[in-house]
Amino acid sequence: MTDLLDAAERLGREELGALQLERLRGTLRHAYDNVGFYREAFDKAGVRPEDCRTLADLARFPFTAKTDLRDHYPFGMFAVDRSRVRRIHASSGTTGRPTVVGYTERDLDVWADVVARSLRAAGARPGHMVHIAYGYGLFTGGLGAHYGAERLGCTVVPASGGMTARQVQLIQDFRPEIIMVTPSYMLTLLDEFERQGVDPRGTSLKVGVFGAEPWTEEMRREIEERFAIDAVDIYGLSEVMGPGVAQECVETKDGLHIWEDHFYPEIVDPFTGEVLPDGEQGELVFTSLTKEAMPVVRYRTRDLTRLLPGTARAFRRMEKVTGRSDDMIILRGVNLFPTQIEEIVLRTAHVAPHFQLRLTREGRLDALTVRVEARPEATGDQRAEAARAVTAAVKDGVGVSVAVEVVDPETLERSVGKIRRIVDLRRDAGGSPS
Ligand code: DLL
Repeated sequence: MTDLLDAAERLGREELGALQLERLRGTLRHAYDNVGFYREAFDKAGVRPEDCRTLADLARFPFTAKTDLRDHYPFGMFAVDRSRVRRIHASSGTTGRPTVVGYTERDLDVWADVVARSLRAAGARPGHMVHIAYGYGLFTGGLGAHYGAERLGCTVVPASGGMTARQVQLIQDFRPEIIMVTPSYMLTLLDEFERQGVDPRGTSLKVGVFGAEPWTEEMRREIEERFAIDAVDIYGLSEVMGPGVAQECVETKDGLHIWEDHFYPEIVDPFTGEVLPDGEQGELVFTSLTKEAMPVVRYRTRDLTRLLPGTARAFRRMEKVTGRSDDMIILRGVNLFPTQIEEIVLRTAHVAPHFQLRLTREGRLDALTVRVEARPEATGDQRAEAARAVTAAVKDGVGVSVAVEVVDPETLERSVGKIRRIVDLRRDAGGSPS
């Protein structure tokens, strides 16, 4: 395996640290000299790029938030002339303006390299066929995965999202070894295999590279068993690059190695912004180390995780993301993430791995209803038993009372990309959904 690693993957921690510092200083200088926003922010904080003499000095620099990117819509955060920007992506943003990102030729080259490295860590090899069911378009998933898979020397099937029946057909006919897709859409594909009477364990697929949304160890087990494949995690975000910022190695499946030669991670206290030591849970913050078109300095991802030492690679790992601070539900003072419900639902008998969280307001109190689908063969008694089991597990495990509705099979909305777990019906005054 080690003969397959690229040069940066073989660096020792000390050499890596030196490379990171040199690149970090370059990035701070590039951002300060070429982006008005960073110049103002650094000046306001009383720091200059040259004040960064050690990696720890980065903590003296100001954070960048998603709102800063929105405020400079569309191209105000670019550090190079627009004519040098070879591609644009944008993240949807459920409300208001999308966040726009840009890449130079060299940025695209680095991106393809880190995705190729990710795929190799996932077990892909030159000559393998990769079925890409991440959406193509402004979303970074499809095109990001695409060029990385080509860079590794794979045969790419650019299926994109949707047209589920056809995806199943293509997988049977083309016989890919690798699939790249959101974990929730993989479950939609699973239903379709079963609907067509095709055994999902009998396909050519060997590895699934799943990301773009949080997913749990329980979901890994479910997907691995139902498809007889290895399921590994890929992480990334458009503001920092796209998919391929961090990747789990198939031989260890113990969290995601961050490609630290290009992306410098910090974990901070989400409330105070204080940098936390490795091992402590907090908000993940990234500084790009090599980006030209749109460098980011201390970008607050809102993703919650912790940093752990390297295992299969010298690069540090991030634990599987448990959730975004945006997706945290506060229910009568108790914090709850959709992933906690996923863990419970996937451990419960007689229900399918499809669920939705409905938030309502009753008087002045928020209430949460977990809607989960029954397995087709489940009897009325078994449904009632499942509802009781989920209610009790949430009460015991999370410490809050929720209502649980076990609904008929195939009634909850299916994912075609990133799934929306939370349906918030509290907006009406008084909270009664009409
Ligand atoms: O989702 C990039 C991507 C595409 C990653 C395909 C992996 C695979 P955005 O649309 O900008 O970019 O959304 C980024 O998605 O901040 C996380 O909250 C979430 N996310 C991405 N990967 C994971 C993951 C792409 N493996 C946001 N686990 C991030 C948990 C993830 N959450």
